[in-house]
Amino acid sequence: MPRIVSPSILSADFGHLADEIALLDRSEAQWIHFDVMDGVFVPNISFGFPLLRQVRALTRKKLDVHLMIVDPDRYIDRFAECGADVLTVQAEACVHLHRTLQAIHRAGMRAGVALNPHTPLCAIEEVLEDTDMVLLMTVNPGYGGQQFIEHSYSKIERLRAMIDSRNLPTLIQMDGGVTLENAGALYASGVDVLVAGNTVFSSADPACTIRRLLTAERP
Ligand code: DX5
Ligand code: ZN
Repeated sequence: MPRIVSPSILSADFGHLADEIALLDRSEAQWIHFDVMDGVFVPNISFGFPLLRQVRALTRKKLDVHLMIVDPDRYIDRFAECGADVLTVQAEACVHLHRTLQAIHRAGMRAGVALNPHTPLCAIEEVLEDTDMVLLMTVNPGYGGQQFIEHSYSKIERLRAMIDSRNLPTLIQMDGGVTLENAGALYASGVDVLVAGNTVFSSADPACTIRRLLTAERP
């Protein structure tokens, strides 16, 4: 499976957002990660529809939207209208997760399910066939720049085994605390898509950092 890097614009400079998006658009990153936070599911509020529409107009990269909000079903069609390509919901926020995944597909997007660090893999076991991507949170959601939870490796490996044993094309995305030091090991443990906020945007040369993430070797 080819590696994908999805820089998280939560860590971008919003005073110069068009420049930041132009930089990502020219980079080798295939996706752009867009973190929506409602101040209820997570203790932080980020951004929503108007900004997504602006970003959509500025890039042809795939927009990878991660909803950290309660009751995401209410907004699925609006995220599609604003240009999301992949829409990921938190399993913990969905009472009828299977129905939510169907609604995302009906709206023409790829459907992802995110699991918080404490949520066991069995939360997605029965919907794996209907899920295009499983996002493993490797920090507690809400903020960029947090430290990777080290024992996440075993969870990644067990999810990889579950997906491979069923011969599914489901992608594994990993979000939180990705660095140039751990990227190679994370791909080697079975991750397909790495989200990186702080590592990309706090670096002197974000495009070069994206390339280094894509080509990182196992240490
Ligand atoms: C955290 C968000 C992440 C965040 C990652 O709740 O879901 O996408 O932007 O940031 P870094 O890469 O800085 O840990
Ligand atoms: Zn995210």
